[in-house]
Amino acid sequence: MYVNGNMERKENVHDEGEDMAKNAVLIPSVSLPADTVMVKGYDFNKGLDYHELFKTMIHCGFQATNFALAIEEINRMLHQRSVPLTEDQIDQIEEDEFIKRKSHCTIFLGYTSNMVSSGIREIIRFLVQHKLVDCLVTTAGGVEEDFIKCLAPTYIGSFYLDDRQLREKGLNRTGNLLVPNDNYCLFEDWLMPKLDAMLTEQKEKGTLWTPSKMITKLGEEINHEDSIYYWAAKNKIPVFCPALTDGSLGDMMFFHSFKNPGLVLDIVADVKRLNRIAMKAVNSGIIIVGGGVIKHHICNANLMRNGADYAVFINTSSEFDGSDSGARPEEAISWGKIRKNATPVKVCADATLVFPLLVGETFGRYYHYSRDNKGSKDSTACESSV
Ligand SMILES: NC(=O)c1ccc[n+]([C@@H]2O[C@H](COP(=O)([O-])OP(=O)(O)OC[C@H]3O[C@@H](n4cnc5c(N)ncnc54)[C@H](O)[C@@H]3O)[C@@H](O)[C@H]2O)c1
Repeated sequence: MYVNGNMERKENVHDEGEDMAKNAVLIPSVSLPADTVMVKGYDFNKGLDYHELFKTMIHCGFQATNFALAIEEINRMLHQRSVPLTEDQIDQIEEDEFIKRKSHCTIFLGYTSNMVSSGIREIIRFLVQHKLVDCLVTTAGGVEEDFIKCLAPTYIGSFYLDDRQLREKGLNRTGNLLVPNDNYCLFEDWLMPKLDAMLTEQKEKGTLWTPSKMITKLGEEINHEDSIYYWAAKNKIPVFCPALTDGSLGDMMFFHSFKNPGLVLDIVADVKRLNRIAMKAVNSGIIIVGGGVIKHHICNANLMRNGADYAVFINTSSEFDGSDSGARPEEAISWGKIRKNATPVKVCADATLVFPLLVGETFGRYYHYSRDNKGSKDSTACESSV
């Protein structure tokens, strides 16, 4: 009896435990709003249609959903861009053609140096060639590698080469790319006479050189249609690089300072130029590929107008360490660098995978649709893509 009674108590305890577990696991759900999106991926039985595949990404989840939201955000920028400037918005008094207001949505594009080392250079060149962006911000490598590629190629290597042997062979590694040292020798031969000419102009005409003015000059001098900065100079798109000396360009300027001293680059004049572009913008859209200086420089300029209206960030950095690189766009809202009513998007991914697809689904479609429809600036083609 005693033993059995104990067993009964044990069974009761077991039943109570099971109920508790069931209640914990099968806690009833509230109904989700009727318009809540259901998860669904692309069905390849429908054929190989990449545009259709991209359209389904909004329903896919994780970074695919963020990618689709980024397409929507950029298409909002392009929609604003297709709105003509009103009479009073036409910038008639600005004498600097590079910072003159050109459209109803000023688009700032920032990218790290390695983007230009990689094939993302050609994607950026397309945007600049067709005047689809208004202002570029990059770091020193992002400037020099574009010019160097006009002189000699960068090669695909591997992340796993023997770096000590590479050093002995005069080959430099950026991730899985290889740049021969000889490329920098060619760059030096090309650049030094340009630095001499800039110094002469500074001395004789009193020209105040800034990093952006120097990049425009070099863009004119390279005279090569593969170059981002050839098109930027031609289309009067300014390129800002506040730390222009942190790369091979800095090495060249260092050596030049011994041979022919006195060249001055004024970064204050450039920050005035950049901030004025932001202050003039009727609407401001920011697209930032990577982190670091390029990300903050664009966001900070937009603080001068109480924040950007549209924002897309693509980077691999996370926010737990408090870095600006990893900060989500919401953090920039707290600083007034993105507006409170904006719907900014961060895509956490390697930009070499994502940026070409994003440009294709937005600027690429906008450009080809406008061209096929004889210059119409209607952005319907882009909007229908999501
Ligand atoms: N090829 C080169 O990378 C190169 C060449 C010469 C000089 N430099 C110099 O090195 C310094 C640091 O370079 P930086 O400020 O351009 O950027 P960085 O290489 O330091 O990258 C900054 C952040 O951008 C993000 N990022 C970088 N690559 C990414 C990718 N593929 N996809 C998504 N996110 C990515 C990461 O979060 C990274 O922490 C600069 O002063 C630059 O001039 C670089």
